[in-house]
Amino acid sequence: MSDTSTIHRELSAALSPTAVLRQEEPMARHTTMHIGGCADLYLEPDSESDLAVAIQFCDTRNVPVLLLGRGSNLLVRDGGVRGLVVSFSKLSSIRVEGCLVHCGAGAKLKNLAWDACRAGVAGFEFLEGIPGSVGGALRMNAGAMGGAIFDRVESVRVMDYSGQVHEYGISQIAVHYRSCPLIESAIALGAVLRGTSDKVDAISERMKAYSQKRWTAQPKEPSAGCTFKNPGLVPAGKLIDQLGLKGARVGGAVISNLHGNFIVNDGNATARDVLALIEMVKKQAKAAQGIELETEIEIVGED
Ligand code: EPU
Repeated sequence: MSDTSTIHRELSAALSPTAVLRQEEPMARHTTMHIGGCADLYLEPDSESDLAVAIQFCDTRNVPVLLLGRGSNLLVRDGGVRGLVVSFSKLSSIRVEGCLVHCGAGAKLKNLAWDACRAGVAGFEFLEGIPGSVGGALRMNAGAMGGAIFDRVESVRVMDYSGQVHEYGISQIAVHYRSCPLIESAIALGAVLRGTSDKVDAISERMKAYSQKRWTAQPKEPSAGCTFKNPGLVPAGKLIDQLGLKGARVGGAVISNLHGNFIVNDGNATARDVLALIEMVKKQAKAAQGIELETEIEIVGED
């Protein structure tokens, strides 16, 4: 890989003038935990063709690429990220046509749910309180309140790592609890989701009820959502609660007193603090209950 300023200069010249490309971008600005060292390069493509240019460029120069959702399920280590981080914030269109919602990977789930609600389209209420984007949600089949995003998917558009675009119908896509292998090997560009027709008032009441439930059960401090996947029989939050670990702290990272599966940033936490807390919880869950907890949050970057 060439040096960062050479890559910056050459890639800038190949992108459209409205694309954003920066060097040494603090990832703490782009994660809901407000933690993380700098990315060598940070890109907000303004179109799918900008994205294809960047992906092909990185492929030929061996520049690693990290795709960013809204950073709501992400822990970036303190040494930052080598290569290029791509944000989809400019590819965030949402269009409701009948009961179908066409959305870009960068669309916020909350906006999707409210746009559908205003058009009298139900089925997306559970997305209201998930602080993520469509792309990130597809990648991990995000869910809440008993629903998961792939329950609503009709088709997904992806770009492969040579820059080619493909569209897949739901019957062609394998989906699991918190995972979708297709979107681990290709880049989600957007999706068509199907809802059902309902009265706007009824939909918005359900969304408000979900929102209220979330705000009473989940912490407001900066976090990356649930830290661990729910293992088999007992939810991770309940297990951590039963182990008496709520309130446990390493540096500025604390296990929430409200919900055991959330690690919150008390103001000055480092990734190292969070990782130490994760290891401590894993060890205790294994020792006390024989349960191997697996992180739900994605951990990237260098120490
Ligand atoms: N519980 C405790 N103590 C706690 C936390 C939870 O006893 O500290 C108990 C609750 O009382 C409940 C059970 O554990 O009986 C499950 O808790 P909750 O209803 O909060 O659901 P969860 O399984 O912990 C899942 C998702 C959340 C999502 C909520 C609400 C996973 C890993 N988590 O949490 O998603 O918001 O349901 O639908 O699937 C995320 O993905 O980042 C996330 C937070």
